Formats: sequence, structure tokens, C-alpha cells
Amino acid sequence: MTLHIIGIGLDSEKDITVKGLELVQKSELVYLEVYTSKLHCPFINLAKLYGKQITLADRAMVEGDNNEILEHAKTMDVAFLIIGDPFSATTHLDMMMRAKKEGIAVTVTNNASILTAVGITGLQLYKFGKTTSVPYPEENFQPETAYEVIAQNKKNGLHTLVLLDIKQDQQRFMSVNEALTILLAIEEKRGENIFPSSTLCVGCARLGSQDPTIIAGTAQELLAKDFGLPLHCLLVPGNLHFMEEEAMGMWR
Ligand SMILES: C[S@@+](CC[C@H](N)C(=O)[O-])C[C@H]1O[C@@H](n2cnc3c(N)ncnc32)[C@H](O)[C@@H]1O
Repeated sequence: MTLHIIGIGLDSEKDITVKGLELVQKSELVYLEVYTSKLHCPFINLAKLYGKQITLADRAMVEGDNNEILEHAKTMDVAFLIIGDPFSATTHLDMMMRAKKEGIAVTVTNNASILTAVGITGLQLYKFGKTTSVPYPEENFQPETAYEVIAQNKKNGLHTLVLLDIKQDQQRFMSVNEALTILLAIEEKRGENIFPSSTLCVGCARLGSQDPTIIAGTAQELLAKDFGLPLHCLLVPGNLHFMEEEAMGMWR
């Protein structure tokens, strides 16, 4: 029948749109993708407000070959819920394309995303360059992509949004402090003066909630700050317009 791909926003069960809620309520099955982001409320709150049982979908269920979500959507209305916006930062394009190839009708309901929520800092959204992410380093996996993207964006005077790793199976969510430690270690190793400890940064936590934490300061200063509960992300400003400078003053 139809696969409804629905963004449910950044904070709690209450961030779903009226349109999204109506689609959830008419769906026979409801799945929530839980491995690329996190709400600031327990999952049970969603089930209570929506009046629906919700199946948590991990990476294997969403990206695996035998996709039960798509199988069910062939015969009934299925809601596939994405935290934030379905096509921002996380790409669930594959899901939509697979559905369309199999002749399943698809609807998309957009919502707020971390990509736009960072506008609260005063850094102008149209002056952001490429977005990047910092993964947890592993024995044979210590990528330096974030450092390189920051370098490229800085060269062009652009801001960088750095998204931080999530290990959903271990309930580990990278903090601003962990990300800074990783970036400073790359600087120490490469010595290219891209991310010295004096780099101005803005650490953000729980954007979209009623108690966000936003602190601007040097990387060294932010290392010692407590950003509280997840989720966190890091901004590295490029060239600042005087209005942006003034906004930075608000968060120092
Ligand atoms: C892959 S992105 C999420 C994309 C999501 N579909 C969206 O539109 O927001 C997940 C990462 O973004 C950051 N993030 C997401 N929501 C956040 C929030 N409310 N506050 C701070 N950082 C957040 C974290 O670094 C997290 O690991």
C-alpha cells in the first residue's frame, strides 16, 4: 500500500507534525529508526501519544536485504519514523528508492533537523561548508576526514558542522569533549595548524529541547566544560560577520 517516511523532529514525542501524526495513526505498522539519532525522551512516550505499538528499527533491519518494513508496505500502510528530518544528515533515500522500485507508494513528511537547529548559535546557515562527522577511533580505523573538512571549509571562510558518533548498541553518544580530544590529537600528529587548541568552537547539546547547552570558546576552554546529556555536536566557525561575532559573545 504506502510507506510513510515521517520526520519526527529533534526533541520529544510532541515534535511530530499534525500531518505526520495523522499518517502514523492510519498506519497498521509503525517503525522508528534508532541508530542515527536520539530523542530526549523515552520511546514509550511516543507509543503513548501516538496510540500505536512501535517497533525499533536498527541498521540491520533498515539497510539489510530482507527488509520487513518494505515487505509489509506492499500490503498495508506502514509508518517509518526518522528522528529529525528524513533526508537531512541521514540519508534514507535508499529506503525511498527501494520502495519506488518495488512499486510501493511513498509519502514524505519533513520536520526540523540538526542541520537547521544550529542556526540558534547565530552562525548563518548559508555560510556553512561541507558537514562532517567524528567517529569513535578503533584499532584499525582512525579517520582524519573531519580535520580535512574543517581545513577545506576554513580555507573558504566557511563554518563547519561536526556531527558526533553514536554507538546505538552500546548506548554510547560522543560528547563535545571527546570530539575535541580526537581533533586536537590529529592536530598534534599532523601539525598543520588547522585545529590548534586556540581554535574558536561552539559546543552544542540537546538542540531543539527546552534545556539546550550552547557554549563558545577555544577548543582548550571547551574541553573542560560539561555539556550534559546527549546529543552533542560541534561547530567550528569560519570567517565571522560582525553580527555573528556578537552572537558568539552570547555563548561565551
Ligand atoms: C546523523 S545526525 C541526525 C540526522 C537527523 N535525521 C536530523 O535531521 O537531525 C545525528 C548527529 O547529529 C547530532 N545531533 C542530532 N540531533 C542533535 C541535537 N538535538 N542536539 C545536538 N546534536 C544533535 C549529533 O552529533 C548526532 O550524532
